[in-house]
Amino acid sequence: MSTALERLPEGPWDAVWASPGRVNLIGEHTDYNDGYVLPFALPQLTVVGGRRTAGESWTVSSEQTGETVTFGPDDKVEGWAAYVAGIVWALREAGHDVPGASLAIASDVPFGAGLSSSAALGCAVMAVLVDLAGLDVPMAVRPRLAQRAENEYVGAPTGIMDQSASTLCREGHALFLDCRSLATEQVPFDLAAQGLAILVVDSRAPHAHVSGEYAARRRSCEEAAKILDVTALRDVEPAGLQAALARLDDEVMRRRVRHVVTEDQRVLDTVEALRAGDARLIGPLMTASHESMRDDYEITVPEVDTVVSAALAAGAYGARMTGGGFGGCVLALVDAERCEAVEAAVRGAFADAGFAPPDAFVVTPAEGTHKIR
Ligand code: GLA
Repeated sequence: MSTALERLPEGPWDAVWASPGRVNLIGEHTDYNDGYVLPFALPQLTVVGGRRTAGESWTVSSEQTGETVTFGPDDKVEGWAAYVAGIVWALREAGHDVPGASLAIASDVPFGAGLSSSAALGCAVMAVLVDLAGLDVPMAVRPRLAQRAENEYVGAPTGIMDQSASTLCREGHALFLDCRSLATEQVPFDLAAQGLAILVVDSRAPHAHVSGEYAARRRSCEEAAKILDVTALRDVEPAGLQAALARLDDEVMRRRVRHVVTEDQRVLDTVEALRAGDARLIGPLMTASHESMRDDYEITVPEVDTVVSAALAAGAYGARMTGGGFGGCVLALVDAERCEAVEAAVRGAFADAGFAPPDAFVVTPAEGTHKIR
């Protein structure tokens, strides 16, 4: 099978950059609560080639859709190209002079699987535009700009995890990110050395109402923070959780808060376990995270719950849905030699339940945004 880089049109390009999709090891729906996340980058890349052109307009073609879109600085672009136009907009909003460009995109990041294909696109486009114009935009500030493009131009109220992962992750590491201070730590995550692997199973469950449900969860957290008189739910300590819950009248809101507060602690515990060098210890934390997403945050669907229970029954150390939810992918931590057996067990459970066959692949933590040429 050809790679995205091989499928990128010939050019000639002045610059070619690549940004990866991501999976989140743990820390779901904590980013917009100023909390902690621990994603790592996938080997699957979105590749963007760019060439400077005269004037203030941008042309972008997509190998995936076969479309070419041209827009000016004041156009409101819709569809996939909005993720490109949003980056131009965010750079200009930040005071940068973005020269006209011709861009082409090719991608191996599965679309709509919760693996952050949109962040990969935005981050690669930003890298190319910054390079073409010789702008001074350090990697550390790019996630915030790319997030702004998604929040304010595209209109998706996401947190900062995906753009941070796609920009800052390092091969062989998970990125421990404090979403309030934006402090980062590259945590070594070399599973092969311990005879382990992460199996990703794409449930292929159709995403329904994702954006509305995401926005509703976010709103509920913000309302709870207001009632509890804290800046964000990150400020509720696990030791104070029961007291905080007692101050909330709404049962649904109590569950949302419990997820966020316990999930933040699970990220910290996972980082501790990895620092101690025993990745098997994170299995139970992953599974507890899934249960919390299922029962308290209510963002799982039967397909992903089936992947998790089948993987655990087949001997996985832990398994959890990753990403925004309502479908998408599950990560299972397994003995490397058990990958095929776990995958077969999941396929069997899907067949029994009458679900369409899932997709599955083994991942190793890959490099964030980087220049190809
Ligand atoms: C989506 C968003 C992220 C994050 C996750 C849930 O991927 O883009 O900002 O909120 O959902 O953890």
